[in-house]
Amino acid sequence: MSRTVYVNGEYLPEEQAKVSVFDRGFLFADGVYEVTSVLGGKLIDFDGHAKRLQRSLDELEMKNPVTKDELLGVHRELVERNGIDEGLVYLQITRGAADRDFAYPDGAEPTIVLFTQSKPGLAESPKAKTGMKVISIEDQRWGRRDIKTVQLLYPSMGKMMAKAAGADDAWMVQDGQVTEGTSNNAYIVKGNTIVTRQLSNDILHGITRAAVLRFAAEAQMQVEERPFTIDEAMGADEAFITSASTFVMPVVEIDGAAIGTGTPGPVAARLREIYLEESRKAAI
Ligand code: PDD
Repeated sequence: MSRTVYVNGEYLPEEQAKVSVFDRGFLFADGVYEVTSVLGGKLIDFDGHAKRLQRSLDELEMKNPVTKDELLGVHRELVERNGIDEGLVYLQITRGAADRDFAYPDGAEPTIVLFTQSKPGLAESPKAKTGMKVISIEDQRWGRRDIKTVQLLYPSMGKMMAKAAGADDAWMVQDGQVTEGTSNNAYIVKGNTIVTRQLSNDILHGITRAAVLRFAAEAQMQVEERPFTIDEAMGADEAFITSASTFVMPVVEIDGAAIGTGTPGPVAARLREIYLEESRKAAI
């Protein structure tokens, strides 16, 4: 059965959904996006995603074609129409279609597209039991990673490098320090302390990260927001990642070296449990 997607105010079967070849999202990657997870047919952390979307748009002087309430309505309508119990809602807004010119065009109408991805078993992912393997690669992305733009080619290349090495993902390294995963924030645990890079233009300000650090503090865990090296990660007791699509996911190997016991650790497992429980309660 074909999915229903949302394009510029219309709900359409995916085969009929179209955007212009002149769309600046297509020509310049001049667009931003959000991915919101769905558990039990409800949206997780919608507020955080809506706020970050507005920030990304503001940083790029791009118009928001919808209000927050309209956006929530479209998310819910797509979840309902596509019968999503567990999965994701993808949202993209671009500067719209205009004759090709590097300068931002005057008066282009933004393009807005939303679609769902059904992912049964997202919360009960088998990877959460076995843990992920990562490799380290140089971070060769642009310098405004705090803006969630659709220019994702380097992260895609990183994912392919990981695949070629028999791993699940890549952690990117800048000036000897880990920035983040290809599409997630990175953490290590040593003793009772969780370490993750501080917020700056170097990383995406993860919505899951914010929630997990809040839950960690509430559970009396120590959190240090600072950079760490791959060597420090290899000597850690545990490692994990967070994102809207993986929640909290243990990392058990970096560049072929086992972390701690080489199996998912108790801190990541506990944070995953708390995150899922609290997020389900707060889902809308
Ligand atoms: N990625 N860092 C990067 C580079 C990301 O692309 C993402 C999210 C995150 C985690 O952010 P959040 O917790 O708000 O999902 C960190 C999404 C899931 C994606 O591109 O599919």
